[in-house]
Amino acid sequence: MSFTLSEVVPWGRSYDEYVSMFSLSPTDLKQKILGCGDGPASFNSILTSRGGSIVSVDPAYAFTTEEIKNRIRETYEVVLDQTRKNKDEFLWESISSVEELGRIRMSAMESFLKDFEKGKAEGRYQAGSLPHLSFNSKDFGISLCSHFLFLYSEQLSDKFHMASIKELCRVAQEVRIFPVLELGSKKSRHLKPVISKLEKENYHIEIKKVTYQFQKGGNELIIIKSPNCKASRSAAA
Ligand SMILES: C[S@@+](CC[C@H](N)C(=O)[O-])C[C@H]1O[C@@H](n2cnc3c(N)ncnc32)[C@H](O)[C@@H]1O
Repeated sequence: MSFTLSEVVPWGRSYDEYVSMFSLSPTDLKQKILGCGDGPASFNSILTSRGGSIVSVDPAYAFTTEEIKNRIRETYEVVLDQTRKNKDEFLWESISSVEELGRIRMSAMESFLKDFEKGKAEGRYQAGSLPHLSFNSKDFGISLCSHFLFLYSEQLSDKFHMASIKELCRVAQEVRIFPVLELGSKKSRHLKPVISKLEKENYHIEIKKVTYQFQKGGNELIIIKSPNCKASRSAAA
């Protein structure tokens, strides 16, 4: 039995993980960024403290800090237990044990929790859900989506992926999604069909290798641009 979750869970990665997962250069970090499905990740809080411009959107932001904290508490054991049972699906290099993973994730999520009320008041954390976002066309330079699209391929349909990617492309010049694996460390079942449909509609697709890898084989990022954006390299899945 491989790593499985019955639903999309609140689980947050660190600023450094975002930078390497999304191959974010110093120039990228100066752009206006949308983090879609950021949940309790610390990317927003740390980037803001370093002078960056970011809005994170997630349905979880409709809840209070206390409610999110409780959901994290419930999720923590489930995720760590699944990781323990499926240890060989992960690469234990930069993170050396399940216990260290728990500490790193909790530290990122605590940074989010401390920042949440202030960030919400500043409009940096907004409740919202794919596939419909409330932003204007091209409000953002880059839109990032970590560990939601493609990862939850069993729970989210091909149609949902198409609609969500198009919506992210509507609100940002460029969309980056990581990883392109689904739970269980297999390539997402939606990847090829989604790429093929998007290419037929003249979206620009690039699959880029990144330095980050925790799920085995999870070191690829997909970059998508609307048909009307300047061209980039095309790639096969
Ligand atoms: C596994 S967490 C990933 C959090 C963060 N991006 C990271 O990598 O650390 C998945 C997130 O997707 C959010 N989510 C669930 N449904 C969503 C939707 N329809 N649109 C946007 N985000 C959604 C969840 O609330 C959760 O915070």
